[in-house]
Amino acid sequence: MTQIRAMTEQDVPAVSRLMGDSWRRTYGPIVGEDTAARISGDKHSPERLASDLTDADTMSFVAERTDGAIVGYAMAQFKDGDVMLDRLHVDKSEFGTGVAVDLLHAVLAAHAGMPSIALEVLEGNDRALAFYKKHGFEVVERRAAPHGAAGHSSLIMRRLLSRA
Ligand SMILES: CC(C)(COP(=O)(O)OP(=O)(O)OC[C@H]1O[C@@H](n2cnc3c(N)ncnc32)[C@H](O)[C@@H]1OP(=O)(O)O)[C@@H](O)C(=O)NCCC(=O)NCCS
Repeated sequence: MTQIRAMTEQDVPAVSRLMGDSWRRTYGPIVGEDTAARISGDKHSPERLASDLTDADTMSFVAERTDGAIVGYAMAQFKDGDVMLDRLHVDKSEFGTGVAVDLLHAVLAAHAGMPSIALEVLEGNDRALAFYKKHGFEVVERRAAPHGAAGHSSLIMRRLLSRA
């Protein structure tokens, strides 16, 4: 069993580890181990995650197992009048269990007043692409060099929130 709740400062070290592992496993094969480790080391350091938590324009959730382990993390951010689901990562042990959709639903419910929600997914991340399509997101744009990863491209997906 897992519980979805707002992320707190106590969760920062566990979320930093989860993000490091997830980036290495998911993006290493696409952009290369070194690039994935460098970008994640910067964006998901405990200091950066703690600072994200204090940003009034972001909302962060974790999935906590009954044994206390943090097995999922989602973060959404308001940007220029729009809302982006910036991060959705679950531990591999929870793939296919419904934890990811529980986190997604927490984010959607928290932004129910917005017309739609967007996200960016790296091309080649086929599992994530399939997950988002299954949950009503559609590709609306293709973008070059996501996260500064030259030679790669990403897809912008969007979903209406009235369907939440
Ligand atoms: C993306 C993520 C949150 C989705 O959660 P999940 O529990 O794995 O998702 P689900 O199992 O419900 O759905 C994945 C779907 O992709 C399918 N799938 C798996 N591998 C696939 C592949 N290589 N190509 C296409 N589809 C694939 C699965 O069969 C499943 O579809 P189904 O339910 O119709 O069988 C999770 O995989 C994850 O944390 N991945 C690493 C981090 C990440 O990429 N985050 C997204 C950042 S944009």
